Amino acid sequence: MKPSILIVDDEKDTRELMARALGADYNVTTAADAELAIKALEANPSIALMLSDVRMPGADGLQLLKAAKKMRPNLACILLTAFGTVDQAVAAMKDGADDFIMKPVDLDQLDLRVAKALKTGALENEVASLRSQLDEKYGLDNMVGSSAAMERVFKMVRRAAPSSATVLLQGPNGTGKDLIAHAIHNLSPRAKGPFVAVNCGAIPENLIESELFGHEKGSFSGAVAQHIGSFESANHGTLFLDEVGELPLAMQVKLLRALENRSFTRVGGSQPVEVDIRVIAATNRDLKALVEDGGFRQDLFYRLNVIDIHLPALKDRVEDIPLLVSRFIKELSAANGGAVTGITPAAMKMLEAYSWPGNVRELRNAIEKMVVLSSGGQLDVADIPDEMRAPAAISLPIAATGTLAETEKAKILAALQSVGNNRSKAARVLGISRRTLYRKLDEYAKEGDIP
Ligand SMILES: Nc1ncnc2c1ncn2[C@@H]1O[C@H](COP(=O)(O)OP(=O)(O)OP(=O)(O)O)[C@@H](O)[C@H]1O
Ligand SMILES: [Mg+2]
Repeated sequence: MKPSILIVDDEKDTRELMARALGADYNVTTAADAELAIKALEANPSIALMLSDVRMPGADGLQLLKAAKKMRPNLACILLTAFGTVDQAVAAMKDGADDFIMKPVDLDQLDLRVAKALKTGALENEVASLRSQLDEKYGLDNMVGSSAAMERVFKMVRRAAPSSATVLLQGPNGTGKDLIAHAIHNLSPRAKGPFVAVNCGAIPENLIESELFGHEKGSFSGAVAQHIGSFESANHGTLFLDEVGELPLAMQVKLLRALENRSFTRVGGSQPVEVDIRVIAATNRDLKALVEDGGFRQDLFYRLNVIDIHLPALKDRVEDIPLLVSRFIKELSAANGGAVTGITPAAMKMLEAYSWPGNVRELRNAIEKMVVLSSGGQLDVADIPDEMRAPAAISLPIAATGTLAETEKAKILAALQSVGNNRSKAARVLGISRRTLYRKLDEYAKEGDIP
């Protein structure tokens, strides 16, 4: 990718001469005065260097330098000085100019000096500042969490984003996998490229290959025109394979091959198509357990699991609940007339005590419901939906004898026995996630109840 630079000069001829000289190596934007230059900087955050004349009508190059530096502290700046402005230009080094070039401009020298200014760390700085700007806009800023687990997640995201390494996001429904996938893309150098999401669980089995890799016209009945698949649409950007655990085994082989070669052929096609993509995969299943059960290919698992990020269930990070609640109240109250101003401590306690099987999504929906139905002021216990009260008393039938935990354990062990100790089957029979089942079994093992 060519670095972007901005050329500011009131003389059209000089501007165009320099633009032409630098156009081969850089994406050049030009501006005729300081005001337009600021607009260009605002419009294009990837501009890494500004080359500006000193003497211009309106604000001069020195004022522009100050304004631009204030806006973008890491922007590299070179001033073009004519006779009579050299002293000013030298003084401007204090204000952050990296270099100055004498007019009339020697074009060979121009190229060298621009390259040098960019190289002396300016570009890296720019990437850093770009990253923090994006952070605010689309990055992690719309994600809340101060638990150690979420801090770890955020740290991983920041570390992983700049590379093109494959990321595997694992976590139960509604824990923020989509948000994280977007954040990684937006914080990455591919942010300007496409973000293409494919829900592998939602596409009929016979259409998955064409959806991912595209097809040629006439390759099967119904293929009336050529179709570009997600892999190709995501070129130079990010491909998000959501619910990757749902992919049929036959497709897993093809996906693995495409990931290994970064190339594939369209259905009915013969030419390999090469792509430059970053892959993020997500699943709410325990992929490792799925591998053990033969439902997911081990080689594909390793290929996807380069950087693995686990999003914990909300009940395992209760300390995030107050933050999330305030964030959602603020956001949803604003969207609904702004009458709700907060929540009482008693109501907050109740929300913290609930188990949130639908995780953050369920919490957000609950707050939305409460905000919409409330008459205003602080949300209170009375506003909390019935199913979120008294968490221990719901749903599970309690046997006449024994505690809830004992009943649960008996049920789990019985279910396991009934399916010949196949853990996946048992989880399905019980209607709980494999992960929960494993955790329970670990607990029982620690208690010494199962070998
Ligand atoms: N940490 C968070 N801060 C703020 N909002 C969050 C956070 N995590 C999730 N959300 C919100 O919760 C909802 C669900 O998040 P998201 O769609 O990213 O979850 P998911 O893990 O992809 O779920 P699924 O497995 O069902 O696809 C969204 O409205 C999202 O904005
Ligand atoms: Mg999702």
